[in-house]
Amino acid sequence: MTNPVLNTRLCQLLDCEYPIIQTAMGWVADPNLVAATCNAGGFGFLAGAVMTPAQVEQGIAAIKEKTTRPFGVNFHMYAPGADQIIDICIQQRVRAVSYSRSPAKSSVEKLKQAGIVCMPTVGALKHAEKAVAMGADAVVVQGGEGGGHTGSVSSNILLPQVVDALNVPVIAAGGFKDGRGLVAALSYGAEGIAMGTRFLLTRECPVPDATKQEYLKSATEQIIVSRKLDGMPQRMILNQCLQQLETRSALGMLWLAVRNGLAFTRLTGGSLLGMLGSAWKMKQSNGMTLGQTLMAANAPMMIQEAMVKGHPQQGILPSGQIAGTIGDLPAVEELIQQIVAEAEAVLDRFAAASTAANSAELVAHN
Ligand SMILES: Cc1cc2nc3c(=O)[nH]c(=O)nc-3n(C[C@H](O)[C@H](O)[C@H](O)COP(=O)(O)O)c2cc1C
Repeated sequence: MTNPVLNTRLCQLLDCEYPIIQTAMGWVADPNLVAATCNAGGFGFLAGAVMTPAQVEQGIAAIKEKTTRPFGVNFHMYAPGADQIIDICIQQRVRAVSYSRSPAKSSVEKLKQAGIVCMPTVGALKHAEKAVAMGADAVVVQGGEGGGHTGSVSSNILLPQVVDALNVPVIAAGGFKDGRGLVAALSYGAEGIAMGTRFLLTRECPVPDATKQEYLKSATEQIIVSRKLDGMPQRMILNQCLQQLETRSALGMLWLAVRNGLAFTRLTGGSLLGMLGSAWKMKQSNGMTLGQTLMAANAPMMIQEAMVKGHPQQGILPSGQIAGTIGDLPAVEELIQQIVAEAEAVLDRFAAASTAANSAELVAHN
């Protein structure tokens, strides 16, 4: 039997065996990875933020073919197809949704009325408080170590701060990979851990092997936060592509962005003029340079270059710092079993030490 300490409120909320979440990662958290996580007793989120509503629906159907366990969908509440995705999640009885940035309160209410667990990811205390005021059932708190868009406060500081302030279950994200981390998160008052990078480095993850090898080779110091991709702080591996972005002048960025934009419009059938027009409008409202704004518009293509096409130097590699400490590619089931076994070993060690201390006290009293 699993140690009861690991059976947290999160397990009841999500109807999963272990308090371990596989977070959504664009072009990474596909139906195969989600189903493998759920079948192994964890809880997986489909990366719907980079999908059309039709693709989300297909993704959900593909997950249901591979597992009967509950799972979740991640998407941007502010994206054009969000209302359709909400309806699909309700029709398909998805267990939970995850999102970041300001959702509409009415969307959260609609999901909750349908019995769907609303579980946003936040990177700062004030965002956690706002998310709960908007109706979140639980909050994933991502420390600055985490991959992709990330905040500046580390898990060690942010997690207890948020736990103290909220009365809904809090899940720790950013920098977790093993059972020691799980017990540490529980000791801070969290109800489980959510991991991105660790699940990216598994056998079921669809990312091409050449790209996974680049993650395995990376050193922690080489996984930096940069605003160069889309103007927001994002943690990525400092590869050839990011190095170029870091060292370009504003004019150089503009040229790179136009070149990428041209390639992107060839791929999607859009027009460069159209892209320039919308980038100009974005620039007016967010104060970034035109080069940065255009770059933000084609960031998805640069990420896909590495994550889908398997060209790790030519594309962008969003990553948590934890990648610098990971050297293997286990199967998801192996990974989850190992995390649970490690966590139980730590808890047993604490329990044995406490029993020994109590016995010694009893002997001393007699
Ligand atoms: C490759 C990659 C892609 C990501 N894409 C998304 C995404 O599409 N939506 C999202 O909410 N978070 C995204 N994230 C953030 C993760 O869901 C998660 O919060 C983060 O990876 C946790 O930190 P860790 O990498 O240290 O485990 C991404 C992270 C990575 C590494």
